Amino acid sequence: MKAVYFERFGGPEVLQFGDLPDPIPAAGEIIVDVAAASVNAADWKFRSGHYARHSQANFPLIPGRDFSGQVSALGRGIDDLKVGDAVFGVLEAGREGTYAEKLATKAAIVAKKPQALSHVQAAAVALTGLTAVNAIADTLKLQRGETILIQGGAGGVAGFAIQFAKHLGARVITTASAANRDYVLDLGADQVIDYNAQDFTSVVSGCDAVFDTVGGEVAQKSFAVLKPGGRAAFIASGVEAPKPTRSDVVALRPPVERSRRAMERVAQLVETEAVRPPAIKVYPLSQAVEAHRLSESRHFRGKLVFQLR
Ligand SMILES: NC(=O)c1ccc[n+]([C@@H]2O[C@H](COP(=O)([O-])OP(=O)(O)OC[C@H]3O[C@@H](n4cnc5c(N)ncnc54)[C@H](OP(=O)(O)O)[C@@H]3O)[C@@H](O)[C@H]2O)c1
Repeated sequence: MKAVYFERFGGPEVLQFGDLPDPIPAAGEIIVDVAAASVNAADWKFRSGHYARHSQANFPLIPGRDFSGQVSALGRGIDDLKVGDAVFGVLEAGREGTYAEKLATKAAIVAKKPQALSHVQAAAVALTGLTAVNAIADTLKLQRGETILIQGGAGGVAGFAIQFAKHLGARVITTASAANRDYVLDLGADQVIDYNAQDFTSVVSGCDAVFDTVGGEVAQKSFAVLKPGGRAAFIASGVEAPKPTRSDVVALRPPVERSRRAMERVAQLVETEAVRPPAIKVYPLSQAVEAHRLSESRHFRGKLVFQLR
């Protein structure tokens, strides 16, 4: 099969496009012929050797965590999916390898692709949707009538989160560059702060919740906008939430639930049009270097997605 892989950790230039052996399904696994795979920030962190668990890496490594495609083979013990089913999903925690024509994955954690979405759109909302739903509903437990500040509104996770928070009945404030102002307003944001022109801590206060997808100093400063008793969730600050700078708020680190049930929650939100797919820039798999360069710049809109078929 054709795949994107690397034989040493490094910059985007270590990515190669070529032939690797087809995967073989273990018991409980399916083979998916990948139609689309999205680029997540985790992919270039993985490629650059950021994750300690890969210090004993078994090269070549294929990046990529989410996908949409068609089931082409079944391992032993699969009776709830069949060859030809269109499915989408996120690989198990600690597993990568969706930038390829074929992948093996645990069947129990994939869901049927929403019919209304193309494979490219389904891949675009897989990991981002899962992360946003876990953060907004399960971790922050956002309620109707509450106000939330979502940092990094034009990104993949935040774009889903803005729409989901509005769907739950919350008021949404978000940060974005001027170029993405109309985009985040169109997603449903009630108030947009141009982070290059204004310090968000000087214009926002008294929020019930913060969802930070930017990290670094933005994450640290986010505690200031919460009301007493407020909650903040962080996904771009490593495996633990940053330590709060005040004692009357909580800092949370959302998990990502890999399960069919969780994927079906994402599917249902797009099927009912509570959430629309994001802006998407499509690449052929052979242009992974360019896609990683743009993703790593951290300044683009929505999602970057490889279309394979
Ligand atoms: N479960 C998890 O733990 C999990 C899952 C998915 C993602 N993540 C992490 O979450 C983070 C977000 O990922 P993502 O894929 O949604 O987006 P991303 O690719 O990391 O971010 C791109 C967006 O960030 C915006 N941005 C950059 N700097 C900003 C700033 N200072 N203030 C406001 N916006 C800013 C950019 O908008 P402008 O062009 O307008 O600047 C761009 O649209 C990443 O660190 C990723 O690794 C974690």
